[in-house]
Amino acid sequence: MLTGYRPTGPLHVGHWAGNIENMVALQEDPDRDCFFFIADWHMLTTHYDRTDELPGFVHDLVLDWLAAGLDPERSTIYRQSDVPEVAELALLLGMVTPLGWLERVPSFKERLRDMAERDIANFGFLGYPVLQTADIAIVRGELVPVGEDQVPHLEISREIVRRVNRLYGDVLVEPQPLLSETPLIPGSDGRKMSKSLDNAIWVRDDEDAIRASVRSFITDPQKVRRGDPGRPEICPIFALQRRFSPERIGEIEAGCRSGELGCVDCKTILADNLIEYFRPYRERRAELAGDQGLVERVLADGAGRARPVARQTLDAVREAMHFR
Ligand code: TRP
Repeated sequence: MLTGYRPTGPLHVGHWAGNIENMVALQEDPDRDCFFFIADWHMLTTHYDRTDELPGFVHDLVLDWLAAGLDPERSTIYRQSDVPEVAELALLLGMVTPLGWLERVPSFKERLRDMAERDIANFGFLGYPVLQTADIAIVRGELVPVGEDQVPHLEISREIVRRVNRLYGDVLVEPQPLLSETPLIPGSDGRKMSKSLDNAIWVRDDEDAIRASVRSFITDPQKVRRGDPGRPEICPIFALQRRFSPERIGEIEAGCRSGELGCVDCKTILADNLIEYFRPYRERRAELAGDQGLVERVLADGAGRARPVARQTLDAVREAMHFR
């Protein structure tokens, strides 16, 4: 099993509910080999002009993961660029990947549009799914826990792997997405919570910052003041309440519909619960941050375990393609 994160900022509540909790649960199974990696080359696909931020983001993300409960004893936690075999495999995979498959990925056109203020129409950005396929195939990943939006990427990975196996003989393992049960977590503007849309609640924020983020959320535009009936089904705050205030969800829904519960009070309930929910995480993170050299040790150890696996896969592919 493998999954990766691009180091473009701290963890937000959407990552947590959609993916992080799932990752922590998956590593509990002693029969499952778990690989969690920092996709630092993938960061270049949209942030090639901000590499000065990379070291800080990588450091923060590893700390975030450890504080969340990813266990470097049980799982292999590594950085993509520490495993250069990935780059060689990506080059080979790119040779057999039709342009049409890449241009068809919905996130390709979407992100070009969403990030119109940044010039990301690059070869590397188009090739994002090829590099992602190399990430997965290099460790012979079978299960890939991802969000709904990543399913088209996984579909391409499966197609690329099948094509390689058809052309050169069965050398690569076909991966499968593992979707979490959690419905999409919306951000402050009602769109999917995401760092690039600037609509996120950051899990390591202090209480004041979490309250301010929650206050900035849109709610049902027809519910202007307390007393107006609201429609929980279209409200991003309600989507978060479902996840973080489950024990009060009936009361919140009824209060919203009748109008008795105003949005300001509703947001206070959510902010209180978020602050409590993430408190142990924040405390643990502060503790780990005091351990000098921890992140470097974890990454060095992870690379040491990932590379032999990667080497084996790459050697098999080279041989199948008659490069040695
Ligand atoms: N595409 C993922 C994201 O944007 C990051 C990623 C890169 C990844 N390579 C991967 C995820 C391989 C799973 C498997 O978050």
